[in-house]
Amino acid sequence: MNNFIKVALFSLFIIGVYTLYSVKIIPPITPEEPPKEEASGQPATVEELVALGEQVYNGKGACALCHSPVAGRAPLLENAALIAEDRIKERGYKGKAANAEEYLFESLVDPSAYVVPGFGAAGTKDTVSPMPAVVESAIGLNRTEIDAVIAYLQQLAGVEVTIEVEGLKTEEAAR
Ligand code: HEC
Repeated sequence: MNNFIKVALFSLFIIGVYTLYSVKIIPPITPEEPPKEEASGQPATVEELVALGEQVYNGKGACALCHSPVAGRAPLLENAALIAEDRIKERGYKGKAANAEEYLFESLVDPSAYVVPGFGAAGTKDTVSPMPAVVESAIGLNRTEIDAVIAYLQQLAGVEVTIEVEGLKTEEAAR
C-alpha cells in the first residue's frame, strides 16, 4: 500500500471514531422548556385570575396591611364575599350594588358607599370609610387587578367565582 492510501484510511478511521463518539457518548442536548408567562399578564383561567388577586391583595393592593388580624384596623375579609349578600339587604344600605359581586366592586372603588358599622373614620359616625378607593388613590389598581381581587375574595369565602375571564368562555367551550 502506498503512503497515500495509508493516510487516507487512517484519517477515515479517526473520523469514524469521532463520529461514533459524538453520536453515542455525548449526551444529546434537549432544549429547556420555555419559561411560563408572568402572572401579571392577562389571566386566561379562573386559577390564574385568583392567583393574580392573591398577589394584588398581599402586594400592590396593600389590602393585607389593613385587613389582617394583626392590624385590626379593618374588618377581616375571609367571608366578605358571603357577607356581601346580607350587606346589600340591610336597611341602612344606600349603595348601588344589586348583587354580591357588585358590592365587592363598590367596596373597592367607592368605599364610603357603605361603611361597615364601627369601622368608619374617627368622628364621622361611620359615614366615611378610612379605606382609600383603589383606583384613585396611590394603590392605583387597573380593571383586571380589581376583578382578580374580587375573584380571590370569592374563592376565599368559598362562593362561586362570578368574574368572567376574557377568553375563558371560549376555552371552556372548547372542552
Ligand atoms: C388603609 C386601610 C385599608 C386598605 C389599604 C384597604 N382597606 Fe378595605 N377596608 C378598610 C376599612 C377600615 C373598611 C371598613 C369600612 C368600610 O366599610 O369601608 C374596609 C372595607 C372593605 C370591604 C367591605 C367589607 C365588608 O365586610 O363589607 C372590602 C370588600 C374591602 N375593604 C376590600 C379591600 C381590598 C380588596 C383592599 C386592597 C385592594 C383593601 N380593602 C384595602 C381599610 C382598608
